[in-house]
Amino acid sequence: MQALEKDSVVAVVGSGAMGSGIAQVAASAGHQVLLFDTRLDAADKAIAGIRATYTKLVEKGRMRQEEAAAAGARLRRIGSLQEAGQARLVVEAIVENLDVKRALFGELESIVAEDCILATNTSSISVTAIAAQLRRPERLVGMHFFNPVPLMALVEVVEGIATDKAVADTVYATAEAWGKNPVHAKSTPGFIVNRVARPYYAESLRLLLEQAGEPATIDAVLRDCGGFRMGPFELMDLIGHDVNFSVTNSVYDAYFGDPRFTPSILQQELVNAGFLGRKTGRGFYRYGEGAEKPVV
Ligand code: NAI
Repeated sequence: MQALEKDSVVAVVGSGAMGSGIAQVAASAGHQVLLFDTRLDAADKAIAGIRATYTKLVEKGRMRQEEAAAAGARLRRIGSLQEAGQARLVVEAIVENLDVKRALFGELESIVAEDCILATNTSSISVTAIAAQLRRPERLVGMHFFNPVPLMALVEVVEGIATDKAVADTVYATAEAWGKNPVHAKSTPGFIVNRVARPYYAESLRLLLEQAGEPATIDAVLRDCGGFRMGPFELMDLIGHDVNFSVTNSVYDAYFGDPRFTPSILQQELVNAGFLGRKTGRGFYRYGEGAEKPVV
């Protein structure tokens, strides 16, 4: 199956942590990339951040100056979804909420061309359910990247019940063309990675609540001795507690309240406090200038 043509237009809806990473990877691969966000300035900030990353890559000798300039010029903010009409692929990376995602795709369906593929970066919501109210649910597929997108190779290409196999295959080939290692997955709660990751976070949170060890200790054990790339607390801070808590809730709900997936009160309290992790400067650790990552 063929990947999308290199210079075709890709729209990314949601310009937060994931959307900006997806936009960077798509622009690097040669696509014209349109970024949209309902939050004022979010898309502009994302584009400025991506261009700054390209500059750093040039300084480190990992990208040629001309490549960086060309990729940077392929990124454009759009002020309304209506401007996404030329897209061959739309990747959604907005808030992890079924109703909001459904409303977005419903609107997109009336804007994009018939052959445009609609992809969701959802971490945990049923792809089948997101697609269910569409006129053409067969063109919606999960394209689940991992954080940080430019560094993480894995992409889960998730098929809902109605997803056309050819659509999934095109997205798979496109992810490969973007330098990723895609895998096919079916729309089950949490798909592959987030399903297996739930107990990793849940047991770590229980350990912390039982005062078995500080986050830094538990992180060090799992990272330095357990072979995980990141410990659970630093990883949750990177993901964002709002996002991770939503994922836990949706896997828990999808399994009809199976106690194995019960969300943690501690996660909920972090969300209540607005201590969302790196993106707000505070989670289990503090971030930003002068912060030496002391434990909360
Ligand atoms: P984020 O909070 O960093 O960014 C979300 C962005 O979407 C925000 O800028 C927000 O203003 C915007 N937004 C919200 N509703 C919108 C709408 N209706 N239209 C346009 N823009 C809208 O969140 P993040 O972390 O980028 O997550 C986005 C999606 O990616 C979620 O579905 C999440 O579950 C998924 N995901 C997150 C990962 C992570 O590690 N953070 C990993 C893989 C997937």
